[in-house]
Amino acid sequence: MVHLLIKNIKKLVQVEDKPKKWKAGKEMADVATIDNAWLLIENDRIKDFGFMSEFSTSNFKPRTSNLQKIDASGRMVFPSFCDSHTHLVYPASREIEYVDKIKGLSYEDIAKRGGGILNSAKRMKETTVDELVDGALQRLEEIVSYGTGAVEIKSGYGLDTGEELKMLYAIRKLKELSPLTIKSTFLGAHSIPAEYRGKQHEYVDIVINEMIPQVAAEGLADYIDVFCDRGFFTVEDTERILMAGLKYGLRSKIHANELDYSGGIQVGVKYNALSVDHLEYTGDEEIEVLKNSETMSTILPGAAFFLGMIYAPARKMIDAGLPVAMASDFNPGSSPSGNMQLILSMASILYRLTPEEAINACTINGAYAMGIEEDLGSIAKGKKANLFITKEIPTIEFMPYYYGSNKVETVILNGRIV
Ligand code: NIG
Ligand code: FE
Repeated sequence: MVHLLIKNIKKLVQVEDKPKKWKAGKEMADVATIDNAWLLIENDRIKDFGFMSEFSTSNFKPRTSNLQKIDASGRMVFPSFCDSHTHLVYPASREIEYVDKIKGLSYEDIAKRGGGILNSAKRMKETTVDELVDGALQRLEEIVSYGTGAVEIKSGYGLDTGEELKMLYAIRKLKELSPLTIKSTFLGAHSIPAEYRGKQHEYVDIVINEMIPQVAAEGLADYIDVFCDRGFFTVEDTERILMAGLKYGLRSKIHANELDYSGGIQVGVKYNALSVDHLEYTGDEEIEVLKNSETMSTILPGAAFFLGMIYAPARKMIDAGLPVAMASDFNPGSSPSGNMQLILSMASILYRLTPEEAINACTINGAYAMGIEEDLGSIAKGKKANLFITKEIPTIEFMPYYYGSNKVETVILNGRIV
């Protein structure tokens, strides 16, 4: 057995005795902490933790010489961020479109003239699985250094059966190669290929009759996604795809209400989606529907910020009692960053979440939104030892406040320093 003991932790953050599946409404303001703490990891799991004042070597006798110790004086320990929505497997960056956006074109304008997702789909055809994996591994390394310990990755730049499978093969390879916990989502319905414009139901037929069965047969996806929004897939398309997914045991996580009151939230909840994501256009009716559902409301601050969109009413949703998660949406078009510390800052600066609410949104609620809340998202006995040790920082509030710089010093994934 391998043991790792972290001592003299200034503050151990987000500890739980009885782990919750999520934090909703007022609970989001609570982040339990232990000042001057120790934490013991056994193999890849959190074994125990407590106050330094109560620490004695007698309550801790690992029957092994394989004990590593870390002195975390002046530093805090957080559970890793759980980034529940990304598109970080992609063939190439798209900074030229970003310049077009600066000059005034909208996300939809760019999509209409074959840019955006379709641009990535064109590049996908010239890219091999190995090239996809190489590019994505670099980005995974980067997000690990910023404190992410679990990430969801979507397909959706293939838009063709073979190309979609290619993306999913790349994600499967990343699961093997990376120390991160990874969930994969099939997003064949990300955009309508140019040749199906005006007859998109035919493309939806391919998603349903060709793609989903193959994806399921090879066990390539944990979840299924649809971009249900104005100019993309309709509620009817979405409903058909979600039903087909459920037939193969694929629960949904959908893109909804980014561009309009699209009905995406309602259809997601109707099919018991694990999460509905984006949510810029969320009104009272949508909030009512989300209450009493098992669906996580997931907001993607990076995309709203980068595209200059309106901001989802996060404050109102939390005040209405909902759980809210926040994720990076790391992708080459609308959010070319996977830095979850920046998401913490945006959560408080742009959405008026307190630092504690932001931490819950990026840890336990993100874990729920990718179906791993029993394993990750907080510091609890038996959970996976994915966590980070900060640099010397004065307070928890300093994390969102000191925005833009990396406050993470040491990352531990699966109980090992990476
Ligand atoms: O989540 N909204 C749809 N899809 C992505 C954008 C992907 C892209 O532009 O490449 C998003 O923002
Ligand atoms: Fe997205």
